[in-house]
Amino acid sequence: MSVIYSAPGKLMLLGEHAVVYGYPCLVTAVDKRLYVEAELISGDRDDIITPQVKESRFVLESIAHFKGKFNITSAVRIKTKGDFSHQVGLGSSSAVTVATFKALSYLFEKNLSLRQIFDMSYHVTIFIQGVGSGFDIASAVYGGTLEYVKPGKVIDPLFITSLPLVVGYSGIKADTPYYIRKVAEDFKSKKPLMEKIFLSITNLVSQAKQNLIEGNMAEVGNCLTANHIFLQELGVSTPLLDKMVESAVASGAWGAKLSGAGGGDCMIALVKPDKRVAVEEAIRKTGGEVINVNVNTKGLIRENKI
Ligand code: MEV
Repeated sequence: MSVIYSAPGKLMLLGEHAVVYGYPCLVTAVDKRLYVEAELISGDRDDIITPQVKESRFVLESIAHFKGKFNITSAVRIKTKGDFSHQVGLGSSSAVTVATFKALSYLFEKNLSLRQIFDMSYHVTIFIQGVGSGFDIASAVYGGTLEYVKPGKVIDPLFITSLPLVVGYSGIKADTPYYIRKVAEDFKSKKPLMEKIFLSITNLVSQAKQNLIEGNMAEVGNCLTANHIFLQELGVSTPLLDKMVESAVASGAWGAKLSGAGGGDCMIALVKPDKRVAVEEAIRKTGGEVINVNVNTKGLIRENKI
């Protein structure tokens, strides 16, 4: 018997970096998913089949943590498949971890709650990476669009009907732990300034949340662009990300910002339907690649095939 679960990738909407210091962020799940198939096998060696080496560490640690917690000695085969590469920064590690725990929970009839899956996945991620707020794990578990405060102190769904985003990939894989540590270094030497920036970002998160719920997209767009400026002040943007953001706004986006740790990965732009093509064109002209994703999508789900 085998079971398959999938979990979504994510996009940070507002509040990156500040969330590492206990402030809130907004995150949305995307329709690029990671699939995990789990089955019991004979013998005492697990069989891990993952196309990406990076994912296998998360799978191996998740299995070890799960088996340790429930004193399980049986061997399992875990096979993974992704709709997306870990290169673009959509969160394949968190998605694979979450889907592995859910599949193991089903296989061994442990009936773990979503909250338990979140907690165990967060534990494994911190064990491997050492840093991170866990916003990506909450998104992979619950899906939709969430307000999140670490370490799962707040995981609140935002009931929104529309979130028309254009996503541009910078072509550069961001080194998230490096940027988290870089901000932490500055936090040591410039604490009052950094706290002021985080509080300003928090203010934007709460304005954006309210406006998202009310559907005031132009206001949400202003919050995104203002958040980008604070990320520039934190020193995590790059000339290319700045150019992509500026060109999106200049060609009619309601607002735009980098999304994630900075240094590369993706930017997002909030767009009116009639401006989408122009904004996509502008992003391509600056050297970015437009990634087609739908947002505000489902969290963990059972699948029939991988
Ligand atoms: C990275 O995508 C977002 C950060 O806030 C790190 C984290 O929250 O884990 C920089």
